[in-house]
Formats: sequence, structure tokens, C-alpha cells
Amino acid sequence: MKILILGGYGVFGGRLVRLLADLPMLELLIGGRNLAAAQAFCASYVGQSTLRPLQVDRQQLAAALQAERPDLVVDASGPFQDYGEHRYAAIEACIAAGIDYLDFADAADFVFGVSQYDAQARAAGIYVLSGVSSFPVLTAAVLREMASHMDIVSVEGGIAPSPYAGIGLNVMRAVVGYAGSPVKLRRNGRDGHGIGLAESRRFTVAVPGRLPLRNLHFSLVDVPDL
Ligand SMILES: NC(=O)c1ccc[n+]([C@@H]2O[C@H](COP(=O)([O-])OP(=O)(O)OC[C@H]3O[C@@H](n4cnc5c(N)ncnc54)[C@H](OP(=O)(O)O)[C@@H]3O)[C@@H](O)[C@H]2O)c1
Repeated sequence: MKILILGGYGVFGGRLVRLLADLPMLELLIGGRNLAAAQAFCASYVGQSTLRPLQVDRQQLAAALQAERPDLVVDASGPFQDYGEHRYAAIEACIAAGIDYLDFADAADFVFGVSQYDAQARAAGIYVLSGVSSFPVLTAAVLREMASHMDIVSVEGGIAPSPYAGIGLNVMRAVVGYAGSPVKLRRNGRDGHGIGLAESRRFTVAVPGRLPLRNLHFSLVDVPDL
């Protein structure tokens, strides 16, 4: 199986590459605009998959898809809040080429808009999956599991990344990009908005039977779950 990872040498794309490292049947194309950075990532890789650097911009994906014919494209580049006018260029290129697509999008507007491609994706016989990461996919899976044995009346979400996890430039670009601007959310059953990064609260994550984490400061960010 051949997988093109856009942002394959970034923090999250690189993490995906390392998680797949025990699969010798994979050929992973490490994509991004900086060939030297992709080459350096491939040179430092330890694992069983076959890696190859590929210089590619997600806005001009069609030629790379023609030349490489991957089975799957993963967009791990971002920041998804700033994809601009042709924000679904990669999705459209994948549908045209008949290649499965998924992304790590965290931007609510981006993720909600992807459903407009449902019919085209089905007609092309491919998958187009958006937000396949911590949120909204993992949070939705947890809620679905909890809903099987309890009535859920309200949900408050917060993401507390490990202090040992690296934070990529594009995560920072995303958050700084909407700080001080309206962020869509639903509160008390009503759609509205809060102000990105300006609203904050303190919370202690305390898993039953474990020592609680130290009290954390949470600020409002743009995620599809809200
Ligand atoms: N939904 C979730 O739960 C979730 C979780 C984690 C991350 N994310 C999102 O994933 C994205 C990546 O985060 P990160 O921490 O990995 O950022 P990062 O370390 O800055 O990596 C971004 C990567 O994308 C590449 N890239 C940027 N623009 C590109 C373009 N036009 N075409 C091709 N490649 C491009 C970059 O290389 P070049 O600049 O050299 O091209 C780099 O390799 C962010 O938007 C983040 O919000 C979502």
C-alpha cells in the first residue's frame, strides 16, 4: 500500500509515520514543500516501511497523484483554518484521481464543509474522511461508548496535551490565527460563539483511582466538537 502523507515530516505527520513503522508492506511518501526537510526526515527514519521524500504542495496535488498513484492521501499539513478560497483543493484532486483521502483537520468550518463531497466521493468509489484525529473522532468514539450505558445530558470538552508532546508550528499558526476572533460553539443547546483564546477556565483532570493531574489552565480553541 502506498500512502502520501502531506506534512509527513511535520510533528503530527511524522508521528503517523512512526506509528506505521512496524508495517513492512507500506510505502510512505513523505510530502511537503521543502524537499531537503523531507529528505532529512527520511534519512533519520528507523522502521520497516519504505520511505521516500516527495516535494509537493497540497494546492497542486494533481500532478503528484498522476505520477505516484498512491492508494491513500493523508493531509497532516494545516493550519486548516487558513486553507483559503480553494480549501478543498486536495479533496477535489483525490476525487478526480479516484484516490482515498483523509485528514487531521481540527478546524470546525473545514470539517463541516467536507460533507458536501459525500456524493462525489461515493460516485468515485472512494473515502473522504475529515478530522480523523484526537478530535472530533476520538472524542466522538468515547461519547458513543459512554452513551451505551448512561444518559448524557451535557458535555464539556478540554484537550490537555502531554507536556512532553512536541507542538508544531502549524498548530501555533492555527491558534494564533483565530485568537481574539469568534469561535463557533453550542452552549446550553444553542448555537453561538465564544472568543478564541480569550475565554479560559481552570480544571483538574482527576481520573478515578489515579492521582489527579495538576490543576490546568484551559483556553477556548476552534475544534469541531464544540
Ligand atoms: N484534529 C486533531 O485532533 C489534530 C491533532 C493534531 C494536529 N492537528 C492539525 O494538524 C496540522 C499539523 O500540525 P503539526 O503540529 O504537525 O504542524 P507542523 O509540525 O508545522 O507540520 C506541518 C507540515 O505540513 C507541511 N506543509 C505546510 N503547508 C503545506 C502545503 N501547502 N503543502 C504541503 N505540505 C505543507 C509542512 O512542511 P512545509 O512547510 O515545509 O511544506 C510540515 O511538514 C495542524 O493544522 C494541526 O492543527 C489536528
